[in-house]
Amino acid sequence: MAKIIDGKVISAKVKAQVKEETDKLKTQGISIGLAVVIVGDNPASRVYVNNKKKACAEVGFESFEYALPEETTQEELLELVKQLNADERVNGILVQLPLPKHIDENAVINTIRPDKDVDAFHPENVGHIMIGDFSFLPCTPAGVMEMLAQTGIDVDGKNCVVIGRSNIVGKPMAMLLLHKNATVTICHSHTKNLKEICSNADVLVAAVGKARFVSADMVKEGAVVIDVGMNRLENGKLCGDVDYEACFDKAGYITPVPGGVGPMTIAMLMKNTLTSAKK
Ligand code: GUN
Repeated sequence: MAKIIDGKVISAKVKAQVKEETDKLKTQGISIGLAVVIVGDNPASRVYVNNKKKACAEVGFESFEYALPEETTQEELLELVKQLNADERVNGILVQLPLPKHIDENAVINTIRPDKDVDAFHPENVGHIMIGDFSFLPCTPAGVMEMLAQTGIDVDGKNCVVIGRSNIVGKPMAMLLLHKNATVTICHSHTKNLKEICSNADVLVAAVGKARFVSADMVKEGAVVIDVGMNRLENGKLCGDVDYEACFDKAGYITPVPGGVGPMTIAMLMKNTLTSAKK
């Protein structure tokens, strides 16, 4: 039977540390601000943005929300980003993805000042991550690493398999595991022997975006199973990329959805915003 890695408990610890440092900075007259930009009315994005605002209030940051209509042009969005780049109250800028199809996401990411890029999506920050010399880590992979560290799981020399190769999760996740001396395999939709590769993993990270994609026969006895998925079922319930019930008895450790990686992502965003303010 698996031990549950509780993202709510671990994220609360991270946020408490951020709050403590934020309170200290406030006594020196320094306040911290995060700008969150959302374009259109994607319901999932709306939930994420609300959670980010709530977390800002918890740790004592100011949050500046910019909710723009779906028809916003790329030029208008870039203009807002440039304005936020120059705004001294704003330490971190987050443009919620995905953006409407008529907007080039890369153009937007490339316009965010790298030292305010608390998502760590700008190519300059991605380059720093590749080299292993970074100040910001992308929030979801960083949250996973924090969960592993706080659970006492050392990945050094372990077989770690990441399913998914997105710029936001899969690729940086693999890089962070590699920096900790794991042997890393990245699997994706063209991978031929997926089941065989996964069932050799000591640590299996699922970032596929398909509900219950990881079945029990893909999990090695005693493996650490990390579920980055956040899928909405037809009945409205949230469901991860891992078949949690089926894998629970086989895994050594498992993260639930909700209450696993999700809260960690937000806690790491708060940590990045604090880092930006301190710099
Ligand atoms: N959409 C899904 N995850 C993320 C994230 O971590 N940051 C941003 N900006 N958009 C997202």
